[in-house]
Amino acid sequence: MSSINLDQLFQEALKAAEGAYAPYSKFRVGAALLSEDGTLFTGCNIENRSYGLTVCAERTAVFKAVSQGHRRFIALAVSTPDSEPPVGPCGACRQVLSEFMAGDAPVRFGGSGPERVDTTIGALYPFDSLHELRD
Ligand code: THU
Repeated sequence: MSSINLDQLFQEALKAAEGAYAPYSKFRVGAALLSEDGTLFTGCNIENRSYGLTVCAERTAVFKAVSQGHRRFIALAVSTPDSEPPVGPCGACRQVLSEFMAGDAPVRFGGSGPERVDTTIGALYPFDSLHELRD
């Protein structure tokens, strides 16, 4: 995937949600993250019976990508097929995403219904915590 196609990225996020391990919440989430070189990384939420150890789909995608040498991402899509309306990234994920994405990077999220939210990392996380420490 070389240029930003948010429709395609959202479809990849929807597919990624199939991998979710969510036996406790029964709320599957899929994320698709596009690296600046065009490489696609996907993630799903992975829950734990010690609930607080759950990792969100967005962070799964970021950690997979960074562990494979990718550090700059130009777009993100998040799919929540178990909710009708769109559900956006949680606060913790916004912080983690902001480490590796520019404020103007596009983000699309949507549920099982027709509504899609098109926004940016900067809009989701306007007062970027500790941004002066970022390279
Ligand atoms: N979840 C995500 O994976 N991403 C989000 O942005 C919101 C929440 C997951 C965590 C948990 O497994 C389930 O959704 C319910 O909160």
